[in-house]
Amino acid sequence: MGTVYALASGKGGVGKTTITANLGIALAQRGKKVLLVDADIAMANLSLLLGMHSSPITLHDVLLGESSLQDAIYDGPGGVSFVPSGLSFESYRRVDSSRLTGLIDSVKEEFDYILLDAPAGIETNVMSALSASDNVILVTMPISPSIADVLKTKIVAERLGAKPIGIIVNFVRKEKGEILPEDIMKMLELPIYGLVPYDEEIRKAFMREKIMPTILFKPNAKAIASINEIAEKLTGVSSAEIKKKKKSFITSFLNKLFSIFKRKPKQSSKDDIGEETEEESFDQNELPEISEDSIEIEK
Ligand SMILES: Nc1ncnc2c1ncn2[C@@H]1O[C@H](COP(=O)(O)OP(=O)(O)OP(=O)(O)O)[C@@H](O)[C@H]1O
Ligand SMILES: [Mg+2]
Repeated sequence: MGTVYALASGKGGVGKTTITANLGIALAQRGKKVLLVDADIAMANLSLLLGMHSSPITLHDVLLGESSLQDAIYDGPGGVSFVPSGLSFESYRRVDSSRLTGLIDSVKEEFDYILLDAPAGIETNVMSALSASDNVILVTMPISPSIADVLKTKIVAERLGAKPIGIIVNFVRKEKGEILPEDIMKMLELPIYGLVPYDEEIRKAFMREKIMPTILFKPNAKAIASINEIAEKLTGVSSAEIKKKKKSFITSFLNKLFSIFKRKPKQSSKDDIGEETEEESFDQNELPEISEDSIEIEK
């Protein structure tokens, strides 16, 4: 049975969509079955960031009762499954987001992690996303208005029966005047799951010819290192372990490949004596034994 997490904030533009996309892929890279849901049914930014905004069946159709949720689950980038939101204002006005809880419950068995990218604020659609979740991760900037607003979200989540479990502080610049992590923890009475720095590579994600989450085109970006740490906190699987798994996969593949060449040549028939074949002249000792240490993988 999977766990449903809503990524929520009070203020808009604090990085919920960015973190949902990159964190979801970081979880999938750790071998988890991940479903991302664009629960921002008015804006569909997550659908845009994942390059899936023109999907034929969307959450709008499902919330309108015109399609099943299964029909709106697509293979997204980086190994995640994804439910896009619709772009039509007309269908947005008619959807009943209160159906979200039942829908999400119906697919919980199929995934380890279901991440809901919630809209900003505390309006009806936000409440639907919070109600549909087991746990809430609050996203805030390290400045007082953002923290004051996310406190309201925390209170609303608790009233709706969801459990706020931690905070992600995004846009950290370590500038004078920023509220310090320990003070944010005290104000919100929750642990900090991650401190994500301001990073140009994140900002550029929406500016590329092919829009995609930063983790897929700049896995070494400093903000991605923080997001990987959050994924590690949630799963217990570190980035070093993923790297090791990748290495041993490549090692075993290459060794299998070389073992084909290393097979002994067939005994030549009497008639062939004196006519050395290409296969026979191959020096088997020249083939290297591949070890994990001989493979370099980008971090
Ligand atoms: N750590 C970061 N460094 C630099 N830019 C960032 C960072 N996090 C997010 N951004 C940028 O800030 C903008 C807002 O981010 P995003 O859309 O993820 O926020 P949001 O909370 O989902 O907003 P909304 O409330 O409108 O849905 C985007 O252009 C994004 O690329
Ligand atoms: Mg968003």
